[in-house]
Amino acid sequence: MKICVIGLGKIGLPLAAQYASKGFPVIGCDINQEVVDSVNSGISHVTEEPGLDEKVKDAVKKGLLSATTDTVSAVKESNVIVIIVPLVVDPKGNIDYSIVDSVTKVVAEGLQKGSLVVYETTLPVGGTRNRMAPILEKSNLKSGEDFYLVFSPERVSSGVMFEYLEDIPKIVGGVNEKSTKQGLEFYERVLDSKVVSVSSSEAAESTKLFGMVYRDINIAVANEFAKFCNAKGFDVNEIISASNTNPHSHILLPGIGVGGHCAPVYPYFLIKNAADAGVDMVLSKASREINDGMPDFAVGLVEKELGSLKGRNILVLGLAYRGNVKETFLSPSLSIIKHLDDRGANVYVHDPLFSDDEIRRFGAESAGMGNLPSIDAVILVTNHKEYGSMDLKELREKGVQIFVDGRNVFSKNEFKESGIIYRGIGT
Ligand SMILES: NC(=O)c1ccc[n+]([C@@H]2O[C@H](COP(=O)([O-])OP(=O)(O)OC[C@H]3O[C@@H](n4cnc5c(N)ncnc54)[C@H](O)[C@@H]3O)[C@@H](O)[C@H]2O)c1
Repeated sequence: MKICVIGLGKIGLPLAAQYASKGFPVIGCDINQEVVDSVNSGISHVTEEPGLDEKVKDAVKKGLLSATTDTVSAVKESNVIVIIVPLVVDPKGNIDYSIVDSVTKVVAEGLQKGSLVVYETTLPVGGTRNRMAPILEKSNLKSGEDFYLVFSPERVSSGVMFEYLEDIPKIVGGVNEKSTKQGLEFYERVLDSKVVSVSSSEAAESTKLFGMVYRDINIAVANEFAKFCNAKGFDVNEIISASNTNPHSHILLPGIGVGGHCAPVYPYFLIKNAADAGVDMVLSKASREINDGMPDFAVGLVEKELGSLKGRNILVLGLAYRGNVKETFLSPSLSIIKHLDDRGANVYVHDPLFSDDEIRRFGAESAGMGNLPSIDAVILVTNHKEYGSMDLKELREKGVQIFVDGRNVFSKNEFKESGIIYRGIGT
């Protein structure tokens, strides 16, 4: 078995390294020459992924992993092709298929009889059969007969890839039974996790989207509980953990917003699929609105204490949408910067993963923790590990009156002696 992985990003490179670690030869394909050169020299260009550096180095040294920009040749030489390139979408879920379509055209050029093609890139329901199969069949090979075609949702997260690859069952659904069987056999050979088949590629696509929508709705209800707790002076964390002692209750934690390429975006795929099927997904749409409204809610907490924010110096902690990951796509920070800007505040941003220039590109002034100007309020957006050990005395000396903890990193008690008003999301 020779495997071709197309898209050597945060997800694709760990997948390629995982397959090679099972002793199979893997060719990684990417359009970025720097990525290809780096992988070929045994160096992972993806940082903050525990275990990846060693796995890439080891696989390249053993001759099991190589990379190329020549995807057609790589596909020709392989009998399993895994596609894990991005599907670009705007914040309202309008899909730009150009990358996945062009990759699929290239795969069709090199596709061999008997090969297995797997889409791991998240697709709307029906995307594999109705959009990808016709492009692949331009090869004059018939899907499900001459080659096998499967959708297998990638349900991992960057930063915990190898942990999740081991623990989370892998779902496989093909365009027909023969395809599903080939998919099952492939994943059983390359993963340690359980591999579970579902009845069709549509069921596999829906599995991913149902999971994302469920999560978004669950976070939205936690955010509503948090608003209620803020209004009443209750502690939402205390109440949610007490509620979750009931085995029927699985409430997630509230927060200042949902960002990244997945959670705030994929619900729109299903909302659109459902609308096409005559189903109005009212709850999913409302959840998107609630979660997208959290940055404004957090800025409102500051406003409640300080009054007008015009001319106030506000420090935003974290530009990334998730702790310890350098990614800003739909990050709540961007929305917060805009809300603060609209209210006339002077916005300073600190993020240990971004350079001053990178931060300035988002329209805020960069603030190193050591060279902060006088600051009226702090809004913590990202739970980067260093924020857990902040010097509250230093913040007070900088003039901070209120600290909004968007990720509930601290407790009210920790601020008791600080002279700073503490507001968590629901605490
Ligand atoms: N990031 C996550 O946590 C996550 C979680 C679950 C699923 N996913 C899925 O994985 C997909 C990829 O995510 P990622 O985080 O790895 O993205 P990424 O941006 O880190 O990497 C994508 C890679 O694809 C390459 N690429 C782009 N166009 C290409 C082309 N035409 N041919 C070959 N390579 C090309 C890019 O150069 C880049 O190296 C997402 O769209 C999503 O469907 C991601």
